[in-house]
Amino acid sequence: MKIGLIGCGRMGGALIEGAIQAGVVSPSDVLLHSRSKESAESLAKKCGAKVAESNSQVAEECDFVLLGCKPYQIIDILTEISDVLPGNTALVSVAAGITLERMESACPEGTRVIRAMPNTPSLIGMGATGLTKGTHATNSDISAAKEMLESVGMVVETTESQLDAVTGLSGSGPAYVYTFIEELAAQAEKEGLSAEDSVRLATQTVLGAARMVEQSTMTPAELRNQVTSPGGTTVAGLEALTATGFETSIAAGVHAAAERSREIAAES
Ligand SMILES: NC(=O)c1ccc[n+]([C@@H]2O[C@H](COP(=O)([O-])OP(=O)(O)OC[C@H]3O[C@@H](n4cnc5c(N)ncnc54)[C@H](OP(=O)(O)O)[C@@H]3O)[C@@H](O)[C@H]2O)c1
Repeated sequence: MKIGLIGCGRMGGALIEGAIQAGVVSPSDVLLHSRSKESAESLAKKCGAKVAESNSQVAEECDFVLLGCKPYQIIDILTEISDVLPGNTALVSVAAGITLERMESACPEGTRVIRAMPNTPSLIGMGATGLTKGTHATNSDISAAKEMLESVGMVVETTESQLDAVTGLSGSGPAYVYTFIEELAAQAEKEGLSAEDSVRLATQTVLGAARMVEQSTMTPAELRNQVTSPGGTTVAGLEALTATGFETSIAAGVHAAAERSREIAAES
């Protein structure tokens, strides 16, 4: 399989590098193009892929093309490459808010399109991605997209409307967790720890608790109950969190981001 990338930025570059490192595709079967020659050449140098002359060349020569450009550039690029579509090419867009319907209507009838919502930890191989299939995409297109995205983390297949929830949770979630770590550490510093130790302990606590959830057969609630004894420190902390609206704040954050994702899709 030949994989192409149109738009050699942070996310597109991370996905292509991940796929090459995981052996999903060999560097000689990857073709890149970007707005500036420098971006494509710099990524090609890092991962051993080839640089194409145009976006259309990528779409024409590859079985599978990842669109790594910004949402507002997607429709122009689809229009630019539409002469060589559908051909044998399946398209995967990671652009937030650009619906399958909008992309499909900018392409010739029959074009196979997939929409994905990755997150920034994909840049270090720890991504969480939602994936949804367009009208003409086949099960083998979805399997190929999954394989590529799994090279930089985990993937769930969803309906398109569920992608807004994915955006509210894992798409925007890294920023919630950064805020959580920041606040844990800031208060620990006020309680007497050094700034450096506070951040290290807060980070390791989040990593450790996440691994416990991942590796345990217990639910997060059961794990929490296991470490909460009456009259203890943890219950005192949890009660203070609930009293100041911790759970309500998290619910509001996920809802606001999912709602904004729906609005962006409606506006675009
Ligand atoms: N970063 C994230 O956390 C994240 C998460 C989920 C989804 N996404 C999605 O990923 C996409 C890319 O985001 P990013 O953060 O990686 O952005 P980025 O670093 O700015 O990358 C966008 C790339 O698109 C290229 N480009 C622009 N116009 C082009 C054209 N006409 N033809 C070919 N290439 C063109 C740019 O080219 P030059 O560099 O050559 O100028 C740039 O390299 C967005 O749609 C975003 O919604 C990102």
